[in-house]
This record gives sequence, C-alpha cells and structure tokens, in this order.
Amino acid sequence: MRIIVVKIGGALIAENFHNVVKDIADIYLNPKKTYKLVVLHGGGPQIDSTLHKMNKEPKHFKTPSGYRTRYTDQETVEVAIMALAGINNKRIVEALQKKGVNAFGFTGIDGASINAKRKEKILVLINGKRIMKRGEYSGKVKTVNTEIIHYLIEKNYIPVIGSLAKSEEGDIVNVDGDRAAGCVASALNAEILISLTDVEGIYKNFEDKDSLIKELKAGQLENILEELKGGMKKKAYAALEALRINVKKVIISTGLSERPITDALDNQAGTVILHD
Ligand SMILES: Nc1ncnc2c1ncn2[C@@H]1O[C@H](COP(=O)(O)OP(=O)(O)OP(=O)(O)O)[C@@H](O)[C@H]1O
Ligand SMILES: [Mg+2]
Repeated sequence: MRIIVVKIGGALIAENFHNVVKDIADIYLNPKKTYKLVVLHGGGPQIDSTLHKMNKEPKHFKTPSGYRTRYTDQETVEVAIMALAGINNKRIVEALQKKGVNAFGFTGIDGASINAKRKEKILVLINGKRIMKRGEYSGKVKTVNTEIIHYLIEKNYIPVIGSLAKSEEGDIVNVDGDRAAGCVASALNAEILISLTDVEGIYKNFEDKDSLIKELKAGQLENILEELKGGMKKKAYAALEALRINVKKVIISTGLSERPITDALDNQAGTVILHD
C-alpha cells in the first residue's frame, strides 16, 4: 500500500484550504486509487486567533538557538484543544465530507495514537536574557500507535489528525505539526510526506522569489538550515528528522495552487528533499 501523509499547515488553514480538500477528494475518488492519504494538521494561527477572541495575548518567544517557540501554559493548551481538536479538525472533516470523502477526525490523544514526552519547561530569550518558563504543555513525539490509522485506511476513511499528543503522564500536550507528521509518516512506512503551507517551498533567500529551491539532498538542507527563518526553519528541521527515521521523500509546497498534492507528486511544484 502506498501511503502519503499530507500535512496541512495552520498558516494555510487560515488562508484557504479548499484546493487541498478538492485535490484530496480527486485522489480519493479516483477509481485507480494509487495512494492512500493520511492528513495531519497544525493550527498555530488559530490558537492565536482564539486567544485574541478571549482577549488574551499569545505567548511567543525566541529560543537561544534561534527558533520561534510558543509558551504553552495551562491556559494556552486549553485553547489549543479548542482550536486543533475543535475548529480546525472539524472544519477540515466537514469540507472533505462535502466533497464525498469519508474523513474521520481525531487527535493524537485519541486512542493514544501519538505519544509524546512533555517538556514541562522551556528556555526562552527575554530581552537577551535566558529565562526558564515552567508549566509548559508541549511535547516531543516519541511513538505513534498506527492501529487506528491503519484500520481507518483499510476501511476507506481518510484519517484527519490534529497535532495534539498524549504525554507519559496522560496529559494532552501540543506538538509541532510538521514533526508529528514526520513521525506519523515514518510509523506508517509512508512513501512521501507532503507539507503544504502558504509559500511555494523553501526559498534560498526568502526576500528573493526567484530563489525557490526545486530539489535538494538532506545534507544540503542541513547546510542552509541556519539561514532559514521562522516557521520554515522548524519545518526544514522536521523534514530532516522525517528522512532520518524512515520517510523516503519530503516535499514542502504550497497548498494554495489548483492541485497542490497532484502537482507535488508530479514534481511540478515545491521543494523536494531527498536522502543523501
Ligand atoms: N527561506 C524561507 N522560505 C520559505 N518560507 C520561509 C522562509 N523563511 C521563513 N519562511 C516563513 O515560513 C512560513 C511557513 O512556516 P509556518 O510554520 O508559518 O507554516 P505552517 O507550518 O504551514 O503552519 P503551522 O506551523 O501553523 O502548522 C512561511 O509562511 C514564511 O513566512
Ligand atoms: Mg510550522
């Protein structure tokens, strides 16, 4: 069985995920059925907008190694559950159902499908000073239980998984969508991980729209990792991690084009990252 994991970024959900949904439906309804799709989604912008609706400020910080991170305290994880398990997950399932796709939505806590180690504290930079923030509810994915996912695929459902996980203590923790997608893809022995976002792929220089990288090897990506910024740095790191564990190919591409998944599979779009 050829499995493809499609990650739908929160940035894309905020903008427009209808082309992705239509493409998933076309692939799903194709009588030749070349691939089985598994969807994983994030929801950073929706966590922020839900916080704003509640008159609360999102807590974003820089880490000493230059990554942007969220401080997921008790209140924020509560909102992450609303945004990820609630609105994002159900809106994607709804849109797929409307197109005739039998989508089944859940998150990593359900059936203990995604298990993570809770961080509990994170080191952040505030005015150049290293500050330890405690009471953190995010985690690093450790194991994926594929039983439910395999069952759904076999019965012709499309699993739609929100990036929350179960900690060792049983708490719900927020996990990075791309890293969760990589772990799920690896556990499923997926052929390809496609990460759909709101940009065309990895730009060598983000300001220069002619600098889109079409294809590169893991080692080459490692060499330019430091030059990438924001969400893309984390996404590239997650892609390298996915390749290291099991996944054969990672494609980072836009979800805004007419046929985002089909084009990525035909090498017509995005940045393709391969093993060395
Ligand atoms: N060199 C670069 N090439 C491409 N994008 C870049 C680059 N540097 C920074 N970016 C930013 O990375 C963003 C994509 O990562 P981001 O984490 O925001 O999206 P996502 O993973 O789709 O969403 P989410 O994390 O909410 O699931 C782009 O929107 C762009 O602004
Ligand atoms: Mg991201």
